[in-house]
Amino acid sequence: MENSKFDSVCAILDKYHRSPTKLISILREIQDEYGYLPEELMTFVSTAIGVSPASVFGVATFFSHFTLEPKGKHIIKVCDGTACHVKRSEDIILAIRKHLNLDAEHRTTEDRMFTLETVACLGACSLAPAVVVDGKVNGNMTPKAVLAIIDQVKEKEAAQDA
Ligand code: FES
Repeated sequence: MENSKFDSVCAILDKYHRSPTKLISILREIQDEYGYLPEELMTFVSTAIGVSPASVFGVATFFSHFTLEPKGKHIIKVCDGTACHVKRSEDIILAIRKHLNLDAEHRTTEDRMFTLETVACLGACSLAPAVVVDGKVNGNMTPKAVLAIIDQVKEKEAAQDA
């Protein structure tokens, strides 16, 4: 990691006076800066504020707001709450994983284009099964329909690169 990245983490640490009681605020700012919590920065924070690496990782993994994985440019959130689950949201999750070459542990594509997340309830149960792509709610989804949306996003990206 470049030195400048450590510099910005130092600035965040200094802002919170390197206080162990400010660990959550420090992690939140680092995530805002990088989009996720890089492992090497967690170790750096641990040393800087005098808290064990296990405690820092414990906090980072306890709060669902934090992610230790870099996120993709496009975020796909499949609802797996009760209403969506009974309408076979699992099939949608499996279809997306297969299409994007992901699995339960690898939720972001290698090209960092897509991240697949599952959520408990999107509050759109009447539209079950629901999938949010880049903030837009899509209701009554099927594997085929969601893959078509993903392919549209891919096509737009390819058109921008052309
Ligand atoms: S359970 Fe999926 S939107 Fe509520």
